[in-house]
Amino acid sequence: MGHPLFARIYTRMRPRLDEYGVREHRQRLLAGLAGEVVEIGAGDGGNFAHYPPAVTQVLAVEPEPYLRSQAEHSATSAPVPVQVVDGIADRLPLADSSVDAVVASLVLCSVPDQATALAEAHRVLRPDGVLRFYEHVAGTPGRTQRLLDATIYPALSGGCHLHRDTTAAITAAGFTITELDRFDFPASGFNPAAPHILGRAVRTAGA
Ligand SMILES: C[S@@+](CC[C@H](N)C(=O)[O-])C[C@H]1O[C@@H](n2cnc3c(N)ncnc32)[C@H](O)[C@@H]1O
Repeated sequence: MGHPLFARIYTRMRPRLDEYGVREHRQRLLAGLAGEVVEIGAGDGGNFAHYPPAVTQVLAVEPEPYLRSQAEHSATSAPVPVQVVDGIADRLPLADSSVDAVVASLVLCSVPDQATALAEAHRVLRPDGVLRFYEHVAGTPGRTQRLLDATIYPALSGGCHLHRDTTAAITAAGFTITELDRFDFPASGFNPAAPHILGRAVRTAGA
């Protein structure tokens, strides 16, 4: 799955966005994680530097070839072991109940079907595992988001969508959200991708 232009633009923009505030979001996303982790749609590996030392292994799944090559490079300087593989969130190369955490960072906006990707996250998580998520989501102005989604935005942004109710999708996939921070980033000015969520979810008992 190639998005060569988007991939190159994202690789240049990502460090600047991190400096502008995303780095702190990444740190909050990953704080306290331990054990075996799968990160879906890892991009160029922007999260890798922020995994805490209690993480023993990260499997980073990334379908876009250029981003995957950048992620492989980022993995070489990560503080924990990171293996980067080709793959999609919709079909993870992992056994049932095999990881302690699934990390979704600015990716549930881009997967073709959130329910399928979240069902995979649910499948691979151990019963006491955790889903960590950091996503831009549907919000106001919803009309503008819907219009952009139906026209130019996905083509310009590697398949990204603005108007997705990701908290509802997480809950519908059999998770219970245990922590949820909603905020706008950037905090002011017009940006249709400003509404964000950052939080944690666990498998709902019996689901
Ligand atoms: C905006 S980038 C975010 C990258 C990275 N997670 C980060 O936090 O910087 C969106 C990522 O989702 C990936 N992606 C798109 N569709 C995907 C899918 N079906 N499965 C896994 N990743 C996917 C893209 O290749 C890209 O790396």
